[in-house]
Amino acid sequence: MSIVGARPNMMKVAPLLAEMRRHEDLEPVLVHTGQHYDYSMSQVFFDQLGVPPPDYNLDVGSGTHYAQTAEIMRKFGELVQLDRPDMVVVAGDVNSTIACALVAAKERIPVAHLEAGLRSFDRSMPEEINRILTDAVADLLFTTEESANQNLANEGIETGKVFFVGNLMIDSLVSALKVARQSPLGSELGLDGKPYAVLTLHRPSNVDNEDQLRRTLDAIVEVAQHIPIVFPAHPRTARNIEAARLTAMKTWTGGPLSNSGLWMMPPASYLDFLDLTQHAVMVITDSGGVQEETTFLGVPCLTYRDTTERPVTVSMGTNRVVGCDPQQLLLNALEVLEDVQQGHARSAPSRPPLWDGRTASRIVRILKQVWEGDLACAGERLPR
Ligand code: UD1
Repeated sequence: MSIVGARPNMMKVAPLLAEMRRHEDLEPVLVHTGQHYDYSMSQVFFDQLGVPPPDYNLDVGSGTHYAQTAEIMRKFGELVQLDRPDMVVVAGDVNSTIACALVAAKERIPVAHLEAGLRSFDRSMPEEINRILTDAVADLLFTTEESANQNLANEGIETGKVFFVGNLMIDSLVSALKVARQSPLGSELGLDGKPYAVLTLHRPSNVDNEDQLRRTLDAIVEVAQHIPIVFPAHPRTARNIEAARLTAMKTWTGGPLSNSGLWMMPPASYLDFLDLTQHAVMVITDSGGVQEETTFLGVPCLTYRDTTERPVTVSMGTNRVVGCDPQQLLLNALEVLEDVQQGHARSAPSRPPLWDGRTASRIVRILKQVWEGDLACAGERLPR
């Protein structure tokens, strides 16, 4: 039983479900918790990633972290009483991840965690708490990069439970790239062949504090005097911008963009976002997944946070963690733009080990081997 709840779960679970469906002896069941529910935050990803409708939708909706997590636990707990799976598969670090992992562990159902072991070492991030707790109760931990293996070892998690398999997000990206090229958004924005940048912002630490949000957007508007910046805004970010009556940016209402300016628009679909990203000269973000996608695509990425839980995107990829100071962001962004203007060629992207589009098949092979007892595994709830 695989769980999706929030936007970034969809591209991790989609390739795994598709691979499971190729095996007659597996019976994949999909549960959507309903943590994200807007068409543009949820259904569009199902459509574009070719995921059939979930078998169950818990429809939990929004709320405080505690209320949301508790409601998912309550409803998922009821579900597993009715339809008890042999294993629960959770992805990433969102509230749905920890809520379902905790229910499964208490029900003595084996838990597999996709994208285990990542650590920002910043416990003020709700995701960091979700990561640590999910890994603590998981029986199988599938990791995307070497740092994760090390983090899990440091936390005393038996190495026999940990499998370094690569990155499912990259499986989705590799198969979507050909189709993404047909996305009409770039031409609609008049950006074909023109330099532009992309911005995403949704971390509570960046967008829930009015002063930080205002200073951040002011800095980005300065960058946008040199280049158009496309800003598909998360619903919470958009709401906070409206509530604070921030007017530094322009709102896109259709048609080609002018040669400069920060342009806010609704959340982009998966394919539109991939297409925008792969042709951008620079991406500014506080997202986790975008750091990985830009690394794979070889697009310079400025991460507007103090830490990253994905250090391989810095050591091997195109990512620069610039901190949360708007002035630093401005300086770094102008530096990247100067490089572009001087025509410095981008170096060919170097891709982290096993980010090759074949992670789902590795995971399914391991799941089956563990299940059939052909692979020793330390997970206490697994067959021996
Ligand atoms: C969640 C994840 C975050 C992930 C992000 C991707 C947690 C703790 N955080 O944050 O790690 O990077 O998803 O987007 O799980 N909202 C809507 N429509 C929706 C969904 C949300 O309007 O479809 C609004 C609601 O006002 C809601 C707010 O966004 O209260 C926040 O949603 P929530 O799921 O609580 O967290 P995200 O900020 O999206």
